Amino acid sequence: MSDFDLDKYLRASKKVDLSGVRWERIRDHPLPVGEARCLAYMMDIETHTVIFLRDLLATRAAFEPDVTAFLSCWVYEELWHGEAFSRFLGEAGYDLAPDGERVWGDAPYPSRAARNAWIRRKIGGRGYASHLATLAAAALVKDFVALHMAWGAVNELTTLTSYHRLIATTEHPVLVELLERVIKDERRHFAFYRSQARMRLGRSRQARRVVRWALEHLWAPAGTGVRPQQETDFTIAYLFGDAEGLAAARGMDQTIGELPGLAGLRICAAARGAAMRRLRWAQPNEGHLTTPLAAFRA
Ligand SMILES: [Fe+2]
Ligand SMILES: [Fe+2]
Repeated sequence: MSDFDLDKYLRASKKVDLSGVRWERIRDHPLPVGEARCLAYMMDIETHTVIFLRDLLATRAAFEPDVTAFLSCWVYEELWHGEAFSRFLGEAGYDLAPDGERVWGDAPYPSRAARNAWIRRKIGGRGYASHLATLAAAALVKDFVALHMAWGAVNELTTLTSYHRLIATTEHPVLVELLERVIKDERRHFAFYRSQARMRLGRSRQARRVVRWALEHLWAPAGTGVRPQQETDFTIAYLFGDAEGLAAARGMDQTIGELPGLAGLRICAAARGAAMRRLRWAQPNEGHLTTPLAAFRA
């Protein structure tokens, strides 16, 4: 049995509550380009959730009504996280590629349609390849849903922790308010995936073996392949590059390691190290904390 109260989650699911966020104060505080770059990455990945869901619903996960009920609300909540970040960036004065659309507090939804269409088009053939890879994995792996749930747990945990890291890094008070609202949802998402993964890994030795192998060899941080590698690397290095960030990465590995069969996995610390090496950052310094706006044109 799963220890997650799905009934309670489904009844309470709603779009992230942003009442009381002081949108009109955003302009009073500068948002450094490095933070905007991380936030743009987060926005794009939140908005991409529906495409990720398309791949998963084509698998046997669709035969599990408790899983699909969760996913229905989950994808809705993620959409609004993307919109929340989009508005924040717009109010902070950032116009993004490809069309430089102006977005403000009450702009019509959905915002940044041209950007999202552009990102999905750019993925092109790789998107179909990953769709086929998901289908192939689902056909081959008997415990595919266990893998999906463990994968989801890792992605929600890394998202949640990244938002905590951005809160620790930023001096923008309204960004902190916004992230604190979004984090409440991410905590519930993580709790669902973790409880499902714990249950499914706990009852199958084969699932434990396959999931451990897949996380070690196939997992990459959320958003890898959706945005250019340098954007994934930048976000990781910016948020996790210092000693506190390393401790946070190790903390995530520890949490993942509490799932059955996953003790001792070091995937988060390894992903952090790989991102830092690709960027050739020994450790973040002031020079790295600024980045040209042209980075957003990638
Ligand atoms: Fe989210
Ligand atoms: Fe989430």
